Amino acid sequence: MPSIKAQYAERGSDPHQLIQAVSFDTPEPGPGEVLVDMLAAPINPSDLLTLTGDYGVLPDLPAIGGNEGVGKVSKLGPEVSGLEIGQIVLLPIGCGTWCSHLTAAARDLVPLPGQADPLQLAMLTINPPTAALLLSEVVDLEPGDWVIQNAANSAVGGYLVQLAAERGLKTVNVVRRASAVAAVKQQGGDLVLVDGPDLADQVAKATGKAKIRLAIDAVGGESTERLAACLASGGTVVNYGMMSGDPCQVSPGQLIFRGITLTGFWLASWFRQASQQQQQQLFGDLIGKIAAGKLSAPIAATYPLAQVSAAVLAASQGEREGKILLTAE
Ligand SMILES: NC(=O)c1ccc[n+]([C@@H]2O[C@H](COP(=O)([O-])OP(=O)(O)OC[C@H]3O[C@@H](n4cnc5c(N)ncnc54)[C@H](OP(=O)(O)O)[C@@H]3O)[C@@H](O)[C@H]2O)c1
Repeated sequence: MPSIKAQYAERGSDPHQLIQAVSFDTPEPGPGEVLVDMLAAPINPSDLLTLTGDYGVLPDLPAIGGNEGVGKVSKLGPEVSGLEIGQIVLLPIGCGTWCSHLTAAARDLVPLPGQADPLQLAMLTINPPTAALLLSEVVDLEPGDWVIQNAANSAVGGYLVQLAAERGLKTVNVVRRASAVAAVKQQGGDLVLVDGPDLADQVAKATGKAKIRLAIDAVGGESTERLAACLASGGTVVNYGMMSGDPCQVSPGQLIFRGITLTGFWLASWFRQASQQQQQQLFGDLIGKIAAGKLSAPIAATYPLAQVSAAVLAASQGEREGKILLTAE
C-alpha cells in the first residue's frame, strides 16, 4: 500500500513552493510500535515559520511537515499492549504529522474518545493548551478580572475566549479588521474592538476604566505598545506570537513610569518543565471539553495531503475564517 508524505528539502520565504507530496512505502511497525493512519493535521503559523526557517527549533532536512494531528491505529507491532486496531490517537508532537501513515511507539500515543470530531481533536496539542496556560501561568487572575488580547480571531484567541468565559474572566478582544468582529462575539468575547491608535481610549470607555493586569500579544510591533497602553500600571504583556514579523515595541514610558512588564511564553518550554501529572491534567481537561463540543476552533477548509502545496498557500494567507487542515484523502 503506497503512503504519501509532505516533504521539503530546503527552507525559504515561499513555503508552498518548497513542500510537495511524495509517495513512500508504508512502514511496518516494530516491537512496541503501531502503524497509524493519519486522519487530520492542521497547518499552524509555527509550521509555516519552520518552513521559512524562522522558528525556535528546526528539523534536519529533508523533513516532513506538521507538528500535531490525529490518526487511527491500523496495525499492531509485536509486544504492544493497551492499544487496539481502530483506536483514535493523538500523534506525538513534532513527529512530522503531514503523512498518510506513520509508525510510533505505542507508549507515545494518547488514546482519544472515538465519538469526538477528529478535525477538532487534530488541533488539540498546541493551541488549546497555549490558550489555557496564557491564562494561568503569567498573572494570577480571579473571576471578574479582565484580560485583553490581540489576534483575537485566531485559533488561540478563540480558545482563550472560551476558556476565559468558563473561568468567569472577561475578555477585551482586539482584531485588525472589522470583518472579524462578529465571529469573536459569537465565540463569547465580551468586547471586540478593531485595533488602532485610539485603542486605549476605546478600551477605557467600553470597560468603564477597568484595571486590566494581563495583555496577551500574538502580533508584536506597534500592537504590543497599544496593548501595554490599555493595562493598569504594574500590568504584564505576554508575547507568544510574531504575526506582524516586527519586534515587540514597548515604550520606555510604559516600562519606567507605569511599571509594565513584557515577557514571553512558549509552549515548548512549558512541556520541558511541567511534570507528567501536570501535562496529563491539562490534556485530560482539554480532551474532555473538545469531545463534549465545549471547546472548538473554526475550520476554513480541509485539503487532501496530495494538495499540500495549495493547503500551505491557503494557510499562509491572512483574513481566513478559520484553520486549514490536511486530511489523508
Ligand atoms: N508561543 C507559543 O507557544 C505558541 C503556541 C501556539 C501558537 N502560537 C502563536 O499564536 C499565534 C496564533 O496562532 P493560531 O494558530 O491561533 O493562528 P491562526 O488561527 O492561523 O490565526 C492567525 C491570526 O493572526 C492574524 N494575523 C495574520 N497576519 C497578521 C499580521 N501581519 N499582523 C497582525 N495580525 C495578523 C490573523 O488575523 P486576520 O484573520 O485578520 O488575518 C489571525 O488573527 C501565532 O503567532 C502562533 O505562532 C504560539
